[in-house]
Amino acid sequence: MKFRRDLREKPENREAGTMFVNANLNHGVWFVVAPYAPMHQTLISALAASLILDWDSRKEEFILLRGFPNFTARSGCYDRLHPFRRSPTMIETSAHAALTSEQISNLTRQNNYGTWRFQKAWKPLYIADAEGCWFIDGAGKRYLDFSSQLMCVNLGHKNPRVVEAIAEQARELCYVAPGYATASRARLSAKLLEVLPEGLNKFFFATSGTEANEAAFKIARMFTGKNKIISRYRSYHGSTMGSIAATGDPRRWAMEPAGKGAGVAFAPETNCYDCPIRHTYPTCNIACADYIEHMIRNESDVAAIILEPVVGTNGVLVPPPEYFPRLREICDRHGVLMIADEVMAGWGRTGKWFSVDNWNVKPDILVTAKGITSAYVPLGLCATTTKIADYFEDHYFSHGHTYEAHPLTLGPAVVTIEEMQRLKLVERAAELEPYVRQKLEALKAKHVSIGDVRGLGLFFAVEIVKNRKTKQLFNTMRDKVEGKPLVVDQIAAKMMAQDVSIQAWVSHFVIAPPLIVTKEELDLGIAALDEHLAIADALVEA
Ligand SMILES: Cc1ncc(COP(=O)(O)O)c(C=O)c1O
Repeated sequence: MKFRRDLREKPENREAGTMFVNANLNHGVWFVVAPYAPMHQTLISALAASLILDWDSRKEEFILLRGFPNFTARSGCYDRLHPFRRSPTMIETSAHAALTSEQISNLTRQNNYGTWRFQKAWKPLYIADAEGCWFIDGAGKRYLDFSSQLMCVNLGHKNPRVVEAIAEQARELCYVAPGYATASRARLSAKLLEVLPEGLNKFFFATSGTEANEAAFKIARMFTGKNKIISRYRSYHGSTMGSIAATGDPRRWAMEPAGKGAGVAFAPETNCYDCPIRHTYPTCNIACADYIEHMIRNESDVAAIILEPVVGTNGVLVPPPEYFPRLREICDRHGVLMIADEVMAGWGRTGKWFSVDNWNVKPDILVTAKGITSAYVPLGLCATTTKIADYFEDHYFSHGHTYEAHPLTLGPAVVTIEEMQRLKLVERAAELEPYVRQKLEALKAKHVSIGDVRGLGLFFAVEIVKNRKTKQLFNTMRDKVEGKPLVVDQIAAKMMAQDVSIQAWVSHFVIAPPLIVTKEELDLGIAALDEHLAIADALVEA
């Protein structure tokens, strides 16, 4: 089926056997020719209004990106779809009723909370579709997803096998209470043993990283009979009471004093670029790790320490190689459990299956979510050792949710892991690391506003500063929670206008594209950052 552009100008071109509907395209309303089918005319008219088309300038015709499936099938249009979007929906429901982009945005904004923000300025962009490393808005504009949404779509969008696994699981079994065994639960349990650090073999499935961390805290407290949790200031562990209390970053502040939560003590993070205790690596002999031992001795009653092995949102902080082995020794010496929060840094992001694998350290509890299903369905995992598991053989496991081990989340996770293996994405992240590092180092050499570039695999931060010598930032964490305009946000907005979406936090950008990203796509994203860093360069102190 061809959508001919000239029809708008020449409605007399209407042919017998066709009907005309209006479709909202990139730049206004266009006439679209559709096969005439009297019996289905009303239906077609309604659904065609939600067609999404793209102009193929090479062939001088529109191509259909999304629309009513029978409509496209009847016209034999699947072959003509954009090469990376051949996934027809089988049944349209009222959830797909035609709404304009503006209506969708307004209804969302009026009736939903925008998270972690003042509500007034929230104007959510309507995203209609996504595939590979790109997502597409209601007007058909495509954006390079340079941070994999929230550093979670590691496989890229709409991997056809995972999409099919979701449908397959829905056909097989949508829900059964967590007390039952299911095939997908068994398959995922076996699959996880292939990729998790050795020794982690008892699982609690939740529906988010937050919930998985809550489970970890309760398990650690029940198992050790102790109460306190040590966390670090530059950290994020989740949004509910226990996990926000263990979160060091300013998202905790708005909740205080309630969010403070009894029993959490904060340690300094490892940040060799801007050390919070003003030491210099390696002469410091990683005093930050030793200080944690000091805390354990003085706090007493410490059940666990929770760490993002590579700190995510708070700066992609990579510890020196001795840090984790030293902490492991400290934990063992004091009977304190080590909880590795791999919600963001796991699933190939750092060039290993899990970021602790970079130092061959075995945590007692590993928590993850996000990349476990490439975020297609909401799944969190809390994995523990046999030693912890054995304790609960004759002690009450006092934890659970209705949606625990939800079948719809587990089947797709099996296929996500299979796809990561088939496409060798963990290896790919490791292979692309030097390419990205070299490109970002080149940016640093060019832009006076870049203070530091750091990362592993396909997980990098570019930190901007007002003054390279003093490392003074353009904005503070307080600015962030008070909703003040941030320099990083200005730059991110310019990049978005140029079709590159990037996550920014206080003073750095997080570069974490889907692991299927090509070098050309990496070049594109970095070029956009390069262009707009001029904003920060101009604000640098002379
Ligand atoms: C390291 C870390 N832990 C926990 C969480 C919370 O996960 P969720 O948002 O799935 O609840 C996040 C979310 O970004 C995270 O990055």
